Amino acid sequence: MKQSDDWHLTDALHYDQGRGDPFAAAVRATRMPMVITDPAKFDNPIVFCNEAFQQLTGYDREEIIGRNCRFLQGPDTDEASISRVRVAIQSGHDVEADLLNYRKDRSTFWNALYLSPVRDESGIIRFFFASQMDVSERVLSQQAITDKKVMVEREVDRRTADLRAALEAKTLLLHEVDHRVKNNLTMIGSLLRLQVRTIDDPDVAAKLDSMLERVDALAVVHRQLYQSSDLARFDLGTFVHNLAIDVVGASGRTDIHLHLDTRQLYVDAAHASALGLILNEILTNAIKHAFDNGKSGHLSVVVDDQSSMGIISICDDGPGMPSTKRTRSIGTSLITRLARQARAEATWRDNAPGTCVTITFPRSETET
Ligand SMILES: Nc1ncnc2c1ncn2[C@@H]1O[C@H](COP(=O)(O)OP(=O)(O)OP(=O)(O)O)[C@@H](O)[C@H]1O
Ligand SMILES: [Mg+2]
Repeated sequence: MKQSDDWHLTDALHYDQGRGDPFAAAVRATRMPMVITDPAKFDNPIVFCNEAFQQLTGYDREEIIGRNCRFLQGPDTDEASISRVRVAIQSGHDVEADLLNYRKDRSTFWNALYLSPVRDESGIIRFFFASQMDVSERVLSQQAITDKKVMVEREVDRRTADLRAALEAKTLLLHEVDHRVKNNLTMIGSLLRLQVRTIDDPDVAAKLDSMLERVDALAVVHRQLYQSSDLARFDLGTFVHNLAIDVVGASGRTDIHLHLDTRQLYVDAAHASALGLILNEILTNAIKHAFDNGKSGHLSVVVDDQSSMGIISICDDGPGMPSTKRTRSIGTSLITRLARQARAEATWRDNAPGTCVTITFPRSETET
Protein backbone atom coordinates (compact mmCIF):
# COMPACT_ATOMS: atom_id res chain seq x y z
CA MET A 1 0.00 0.00 0.00
CA LYS A 2 1.39 3.39 -0.95
CA GLN A 3 1.38 5.76 1.94
CA SER A 4 0.34 9.38 1.45
CA ASP A 5 2.73 12.16 2.54
CA ASP A 6 0.81 13.00 5.66
CA TRP A 7 0.51 9.38 6.73
CA HIS A 8 0.97 9.07 10.44
CA LEU A 9 1.42 6.20 12.83
CA THR A 10 -1.38 7.82 14.81
CA ASP A 11 -3.76 7.13 11.96
CA ALA A 12 -2.83 3.50 12.19
CA LEU A 13 -3.30 3.62 15.93
CA HIS A 14 -6.80 5.01 15.52
CA TYR A 15 -7.84 1.75 13.91
CA ASP A 16 -10.03 -0.25 16.16
CA GLN A 17 -8.36 -2.91 18.21
CA GLY A 18 -7.57 -5.92 16.12
CA ARG A 19 -8.10 -4.25 12.79
CA GLY A 20 -4.80 -2.43 12.43
CA ASP A 21 -1.19 -3.11 13.13
CA PRO A 22 -0.85 -5.74 15.92
CA PHE A 23 1.69 -3.48 17.72
CA ALA A 24 -0.77 -0.60 17.61
CA ALA A 25 -3.44 -2.89 18.99
CA ALA A 26 -1.10 -3.92 21.80
CA VAL A 27 -0.35 -0.28 22.67
CA ARG A 28 -4.06 0.45 22.82
CA ALA A 29 -4.80 -2.54 25.01
CA THR A 30 -1.84 -2.50 27.41
CA ARG A 31 -2.38 -1.65 31.04
CA MET A 32 0.60 0.71 30.90
CA PRO A 33 -0.59 4.28 30.27
CA MET A 34 0.95 5.56 27.04
CA VAL A 35 0.78 8.69 24.87
CA ILE A 36 2.29 9.72 21.58
CA THR A 37 2.96 13.35 20.79
CA ASP A 38 3.63 14.96 17.46
CA PRO A 39 6.45 17.51 17.49
CA ALA A 40 5.63 18.53 13.92
CA LYS A 41 2.44 20.13 15.19
CA PHE A 42 2.30 23.33 17.17
CA ASP A 43 3.22 22.84 20.86
CA ASN A 44 3.92 19.12 20.43
CA PRO A 45 0.37 17.95 21.24
CA ILE A 46 -0.75 14.49 22.24
CA VAL A 47 -2.01 12.72 19.15
CA PHE A 48 -2.67 9.38 20.73
CA CYS A 49 -3.45 8.14 24.22
CA ASN A 50 -4.47 4.66 25.24
CA GLU A 51 -7.27 3.59 27.54
CA ALA A 52 -4.92 3.10 30.50
CA PHE A 53 -3.79 6.73 30.22
CA GLN A 54 -7.39 7.93 30.33
CA GLN A 55 -8.02 5.81 33.42
CA LEU A 56 -4.87 7.08 35.10
CA THR A 57 -5.66 10.76 34.50
CA GLY A 58 -9.46 10.71 34.63
CA TYR A 59 -9.75 12.61 31.33
CA ASP A 60 -11.62 11.44 28.24
CA ARG A 61 -9.77 10.98 24.97
CA GLU A 62 -11.40 14.11 23.51
CA GLU A 63 -10.07 16.16 26.41
CA ILE A 64 -6.57 14.79 25.94
CA ILE A 65 -5.93 14.74 22.23
CA GLY A 66 -4.52 17.99 20.92
CA ARG A 67 -3.13 19.17 24.25
CA ASN A 68 0.46 19.39 25.35
CA CYS A 69 1.35 16.99 28.20
CA ARG A 70 1.86 19.90 30.56
CA PHE A 71 -1.88 19.96 31.31
CA LEU A 72 -1.10 17.19 33.83
CA GLN A 73 1.18 19.48 35.81
CA GLY A 74 0.08 21.54 38.78
CA PRO A 75 1.37 23.96 41.38
CA ASP A 76 3.43 21.33 43.27
CA THR A 77 5.07 19.73 40.26
CA ASP A 78 8.82 20.01 40.58
CA GLU A 79 10.16 22.69 38.21
CA ALA A 80 13.58 21.09 37.91
CA SER A 81 12.10 17.77 36.72
CA ILE A 82 9.85 19.57 34.23
CA SER A 83 12.75 21.45 32.75
CA ARG A 84 14.76 18.22 32.51
CA VAL A 85 11.96 16.73 30.40
CA ARG A 86 11.71 19.93 28.33
CA VAL A 87 15.45 19.92 27.61
CA ALA A 88 15.32 16.23 26.59
CA ILE A 89 12.46 16.94 24.17
CA GLN A 90 14.27 19.93 22.70
CA SER A 91 17.49 17.99 22.21
CA GLY A 92 15.74 14.78 21.12
CA HIS A 93 16.90 12.51 23.95
CA ASP A 94 15.30 9.86 26.13
CA VAL A 95 14.33 11.01 29.58
CA GLU A 96 13.08 9.44 32.78
CA ALA A 97 11.47 11.49 35.51
CA ASP A 98 9.18 11.08 38.48
CA LEU A 99 6.66 13.91 38.17
CA LEU A 100 3.88 14.91 40.51
CA ASN A 101 0.88 15.01 38.14
CA TYR A 102 -2.74 16.08 38.60
CA ARG A 103 -5.82 14.10 37.56
CA LYS A 104 -8.93 15.73 36.21
CA ASP A 105 -10.38 15.79 39.73
CA ARG A 106 -7.18 17.60 40.87
CA SER A 107 -6.04 14.62 42.97
CA THR A 108 -2.32 13.99 42.54
CA PHE A 109 -0.26 10.95 41.66
CA TRP A 110 3.43 10.32 41.12
CA ASN A 111 4.03 9.60 37.49
CA ALA A 112 7.14 7.67 36.48
CA LEU A 113 7.49 9.09 32.99
CA TYR A 114 9.65 7.50 30.36
CA LEU A 115 9.81 9.51 27.16
CA SER A 116 11.73 8.77 23.99
CA PRO A 117 11.81 10.19 20.49
CA VAL A 118 10.82 8.02 17.53
CA ARG A 119 12.82 8.89 14.42
CA ASP A 120 12.21 8.07 10.80
CA GLU A 121 14.84 6.67 8.43
CA SER A 122 16.29 10.10 7.77
CA GLY A 123 16.70 10.67 11.49
CA ILE A 124 13.94 13.22 11.88
CA ILE A 125 11.91 12.93 15.02
CA ARG A 126 8.39 11.95 14.00
CA PHE A 127 6.92 11.31 17.44
CA PHE A 128 7.63 11.24 21.09
CA PHE A 129 6.49 8.11 22.78
CA ALA A 130 5.78 8.39 26.50
CA SER A 131 4.93 5.60 28.90
CA GLN A 132 3.73 6.44 32.36
CA MET A 133 3.28 4.58 35.58
CA ASP A 134 1.59 5.52 38.80
CA VAL A 135 4.41 5.12 41.34
CA SER A 136 2.73 7.12 44.10
CA GLU A 137 3.11 4.27 46.58
CA ARG A 138 6.84 3.94 45.98
CA VAL A 139 7.49 7.69 46.08
CA LEU A 140 5.33 8.21 49.16
CA SER A 141 6.93 5.32 51.04
CA GLN A 142 10.36 6.65 50.05
CA GLN A 143 9.31 10.04 51.36
CA ALA A 144 8.05 8.42 54.56
CA ILE A 145 11.41 6.66 54.97
CA THR A 146 13.27 9.92 54.36
CA ASP A 147 11.03 11.72 56.88
CA LYS A 148 11.60 8.91 59.40
CA LYS A 149 15.34 9.08 58.81
CA VAL A 150 15.36 12.83 59.42
CA MET A 151 13.34 12.27 62.60
CA VAL A 152 15.70 9.54 63.82
CA GLU A 153 18.74 11.68 63.02
CA ARG A 154 17.20 14.57 64.93
CA GLU A 155 16.53 12.28 67.88
CA VAL A 156 20.09 10.91 67.77
CA ASP A 157 21.43 14.49 67.71
CA ARG A 158 19.25 15.40 70.67
CA ARG A 159 20.36 12.35 72.67
CA THR A 160 24.00 12.95 71.78
CA ALA A 161 23.65 16.51 73.03
CA ASP A 162 22.03 15.20 76.25
CA LEU A 163 24.84 12.68 76.74
CA ARG A 164 27.46 15.32 76.06
CA ALA A 165 25.82 17.62 78.60
CA ALA A 166 25.67 14.75 81.12
CA LEU A 167 29.35 14.00 80.52
CA GLU A 168 30.23 17.66 80.97
CA ALA A 169 28.28 17.72 84.22
CA LYS A 170 30.08 14.57 85.39
CA THR A 171 33.46 16.05 84.41
CA LEU A 172 32.65 19.21 86.34
CA LEU A 173 31.61 17.18 89.37
CA LEU A 174 34.74 15.03 89.31
CA HIS A 175 36.90 18.11 88.93
CA GLU A 176 35.07 19.63 91.85
CA VAL A 177 35.78 16.51 93.94
CA ASP A 178 39.48 16.57 93.01
CA HIS A 179 39.56 20.27 93.79
CA ARG A 180 38.12 19.64 97.25
CA VAL A 181 40.46 16.71 97.92
CA LYS A 182 43.37 18.94 96.93
CA ASN A 183 42.15 21.71 99.26
CA ASN A 184 41.74 19.23 102.12
CA LEU A 185 45.25 17.86 101.55
CA THR A 186 46.61 21.40 101.56
CA MET A 187 44.81 21.98 104.85
CA ILE A 188 46.25 18.76 106.34
CA GLY A 189 49.67 19.98 105.18
CA SER A 190 49.16 23.30 106.96
CA LEU A 191 48.13 21.52 110.18
CA LEU A 192 51.21 19.26 110.01
CA ARG A 193 53.42 22.28 109.41
CA LEU A 194 52.04 23.94 112.54
CA GLN A 195 52.75 20.73 114.45
CA VAL A 196 56.32 20.44 113.13
CA ARG A 197 57.13 23.87 114.56
CA THR A 198 56.25 22.71 118.08
CA ILE A 199 58.49 19.62 117.95
CA ASP A 200 61.97 19.90 119.41
CA ASP A 201 63.17 16.40 118.59
CA PRO A 202 64.89 16.74 115.17
CA ASP A 203 64.25 13.06 114.36
CA VAL A 204 60.52 13.33 114.90
CA ALA A 205 60.45 16.66 113.08
CA ALA A 206 62.23 15.07 110.09
CA LYS A 207 59.71 12.24 110.05
CA LEU A 208 56.84 14.71 110.12
CA ASP A 209 58.52 16.64 107.32
CA SER A 210 58.59 13.47 105.22
CA MET A 211 54.88 13.05 105.88
CA LEU A 212 54.32 16.64 104.83
CA GLU A 213 56.11 16.00 101.54
CA ARG A 214 53.87 12.97 100.90
CA VAL A 215 50.76 15.02 101.58
CA ASP A 216 52.09 17.76 99.28
CA ALA A 217 52.78 15.21 96.52
CA LEU A 218 49.21 13.89 96.79
CA ALA A 219 47.88 17.46 96.64
CA VAL A 220 49.87 17.98 93.39
CA VAL A 221 48.35 14.78 91.95
CA HIS A 222 44.85 16.07 92.68
CA ARG A 223 45.62 19.52 91.35
CA GLN A 224 46.77 18.00 88.07
CA LEU A 225 43.65 15.77 88.02
CA TYR A 226 41.20 18.62 88.34
CA GLN A 227 43.08 20.78 85.88
CA SER A 228 43.02 18.08 83.21
CA SER A 229 40.18 17.80 80.71
CA ASP A 230 40.81 14.07 80.64
CA LEU A 231 38.88 12.14 83.28
CA ALA A 232 40.14 8.65 82.60
CA ARG A 233 43.86 9.30 82.18
CA PHE A 234 46.63 10.95 84.14
CA ASP A 235 49.80 12.30 82.57
CA LEU A 236 52.44 10.75 84.82
CA GLY A 237 55.24 12.02 82.56
CA THR A 238 54.32 15.66 83.13
CA PHE A 239 53.71 14.96 86.80
CA VAL A 240 57.19 13.51 87.45
CA HIS A 241 58.73 16.42 85.53
CA ASN A 242 57.06 18.98 87.78
CA LEU A 243 57.50 16.95 90.96
CA ALA A 244 61.27 16.63 90.39
CA ILE A 245 61.55 20.41 90.00
CA ASP A 246 59.41 20.92 93.15
CA VAL A 247 61.35 18.42 95.27
CA VAL A 248 64.77 19.78 94.29
CA GLY A 249 63.46 23.35 94.69
CA ALA A 250 61.99 22.61 98.14
CA SER A 251 65.33 21.15 99.29
CA GLY A 252 66.87 24.59 98.77
CA ARG A 253 69.86 22.88 97.20
CA THR A 254 71.45 24.62 94.26
CA ASP A 255 74.23 22.04 93.97
CA ILE A 256 71.93 19.26 92.82
CA HIS A 257 71.81 19.39 89.03
CA LEU A 258 68.59 18.12 87.65
CA HIS A 259 68.45 16.54 84.17
CA LEU A 260 64.99 16.04 82.83
CA ASP A 261 64.26 13.88 79.81
CA THR A 262 60.50 13.65 80.06
CA ARG A 263 57.45 13.43 77.85
CA GLN A 264 53.76 12.88 78.24
CA LEU A 265 52.97 9.38 79.43
CA TYR A 266 49.44 8.44 80.43
CA VAL A 267 48.29 6.04 83.13
CA ASP A 268 44.78 5.24 84.30
CA ALA A 269 43.57 8.05 86.56
CA ALA A 270 42.77 5.40 89.20
CA HIS A 271 46.53 4.75 89.60
CA ALA A 272 47.54 8.41 89.72
CA SER A 273 47.85 8.73 93.50
CA ALA A 274 49.74 5.47 94.02
CA LEU A 275 52.24 6.12 91.20
CA GLY A 276 52.58 9.76 92.26
CA LEU A 277 53.48 8.72 95.80
CA ILE A 278 55.98 6.11 94.59
CA LEU A 279 57.76 8.74 92.49
CA ASN A 280 57.77 11.08 95.46
CA GLU A 281 59.47 8.40 97.62
CA ILE A 282 62.14 7.74 95.01
CA LEU A 283 62.86 11.44 94.42
CA THR A 284 62.97 12.39 98.11
CA ASN A 285 65.23 9.40 98.81
CA ALA A 286 67.69 10.66 96.23
CA ILE A 287 67.76 14.14 97.79
CA LYS A 288 68.00 12.71 101.32
CA HIS A 289 70.42 9.84 100.82
CA ALA A 290 72.38 10.45 97.63
CA PHE A 291 73.29 14.06 98.26
CA ASP A 292 73.42 14.21 102.06
CA ASN A 293 76.07 16.08 104.01
CA GLY A 294 76.12 18.78 101.35
CA LYS A 295 77.38 16.42 98.64
CA SER A 296 76.62 17.89 95.22
CA GLY A 297 75.69 15.79 92.25
CA HIS A 298 73.42 14.99 89.34
CA LEU A 299 69.89 13.72 89.41
CA SER A 300 68.25 12.54 86.21
CA VAL A 301 64.65 11.73 85.45
CA VAL A 302 63.95 9.86 82.21
CA VAL A 303 60.49 9.02 80.91
CA ASP A 304 60.48 6.20 78.36
CA ASP A 305 57.29 5.92 76.29
CA GLN A 306 58.72 3.57 73.68
CA SER A 307 57.50 0.25 75.01
CA SER A 308 54.04 -1.09 75.77
CA MET A 309 54.70 -0.53 79.48
CA GLY A 310 55.50 2.90 80.87
CA ILE A 311 59.02 3.24 82.28
CA ILE A 312 60.40 6.04 84.45
CA SER A 313 64.00 5.96 85.69
CA ILE A 314 65.35 8.21 88.43
CA CYS A 315 69.12 8.05 88.76
CA ASP A 316 71.60 9.80 91.05
CA ASP A 317 75.38 9.73 91.27
CA GLY A 318 75.48 9.45 95.05
CA PRO A 319 77.11 6.74 97.16
CA GLY A 320 74.73 3.99 96.03
CA MET A 321 72.44 1.86 98.15
CA PRO A 322 73.85 0.50 101.41
CA SER A 323 74.39 -3.26 101.43
CA THR A 324 71.96 -3.63 104.31
CA LYS A 325 68.74 -1.70 104.06
CA ARG A 326 66.86 -0.33 107.04
CA THR A 327 63.98 -2.70 107.57
CA ARG A 328 61.50 -0.48 109.39
CA SER A 329 61.48 2.43 106.98
CA ILE A 330 58.15 3.68 105.75
CA GLY A 331 59.44 4.65 102.30
CA THR A 332 60.35 1.17 101.09
CA SER A 333 57.16 -0.43 102.43
CA LEU A 334 55.08 2.35 100.87
CA ILE A 335 56.71 1.70 97.51
CA THR A 336 56.07 -2.07 97.82
CA ARG A 337 52.41 -1.67 98.75
CA LEU A 338 51.60 1.08 96.29
CA ALA A 339 53.37 -0.77 93.47
CA ARG A 340 51.13 -3.77 94.08
CA GLN A 341 48.10 -1.47 93.99
CA ALA A 342 49.10 0.20 90.73
CA ARG A 343 50.38 -3.07 89.15
CA ALA A 344 53.80 -1.43 88.94
CA GLU A 345 57.27 -2.78 89.61
CA ALA A 346 60.18 -0.90 91.14
CA THR A 347 63.77 -2.07 90.65
CA TRP A 348 67.01 -0.69 92.08
CA ARG A 349 70.33 -1.01 90.36
CA ASP A 350 73.82 0.31 90.75
CA ASN A 351 74.45 3.43 88.71
CA ALA A 352 78.25 3.23 89.25
CA PRO A 353 78.41 5.60 91.02
CA GLY A 354 75.00 6.07 92.54
CA THR A 355 71.61 4.47 92.32
CA CYS A 356 69.06 4.05 89.54
CA VAL A 357 65.49 3.30 90.46
CA THR A 358 63.20 2.28 87.62
CA ILE A 359 59.48 1.87 87.84
CA THR A 360 57.57 -0.02 85.17
CA PHE A 361 53.79 0.29 85.04
CA PRO A 362 50.85 -0.25 82.70
CA ARG A 363 50.02 2.66 80.40
CA SER A 364 46.50 3.90 79.95
CA GLU A 365 44.67 2.08 77.17
CA THR A 366 42.12 4.86 76.84
CA GLU A 367 42.45 6.83 73.62
CA THR A 368 41.80 10.56 73.70
N1 LIG B 1 69.03 7.03 96.18
C1 LIG B 1 69.57 6.48 97.26
N2 LIG B 1 70.91 6.56 97.47
C2 LIG B 1 71.45 5.99 98.53
N3 LIG B 1 70.76 5.31 99.47
C3 LIG B 1 69.45 5.22 99.34
C4 LIG B 1 68.79 5.79 98.23
N4 LIG B 1 67.47 5.49 98.37
C5 LIG B 1 67.33 4.82 99.47
N5 LIG B 1 68.50 4.63 100.06
C6 LIG B 1 68.76 3.88 101.28
O1 LIG B 1 67.70 2.98 101.50
C7 LIG B 1 67.14 3.18 102.79
C8 LIG B 1 65.67 2.91 102.76
O2 LIG B 1 64.99 3.93 102.08
P1 LIG B 1 63.55 4.27 102.54
O3 LIG B 1 63.01 5.26 101.61
O4 LIG B 1 62.81 3.00 102.68
O5 LIG B 1 63.73 4.86 104.00
P2 LIG B 1 64.17 6.32 104.42
O6 LIG B 1 64.22 7.20 103.21
O7 LIG B 1 65.41 6.17 105.20
O8 LIG B 1 63.02 6.77 105.34
P3 LIG B 1 61.53 7.05 104.98
O9 LIG B 1 60.78 5.95 105.56
O10 LIG B 1 61.19 8.36 105.49
O11 LIG B 1 61.46 7.03 103.48
C9 LIG B 1 67.50 4.59 103.14
O12 LIG B 1 67.61 4.75 104.53
C10 LIG B 1 68.84 4.76 102.48
O13 LIG B 1 69.88 4.27 103.30
MG1 LIG C 1 62.67 7.34 101.90
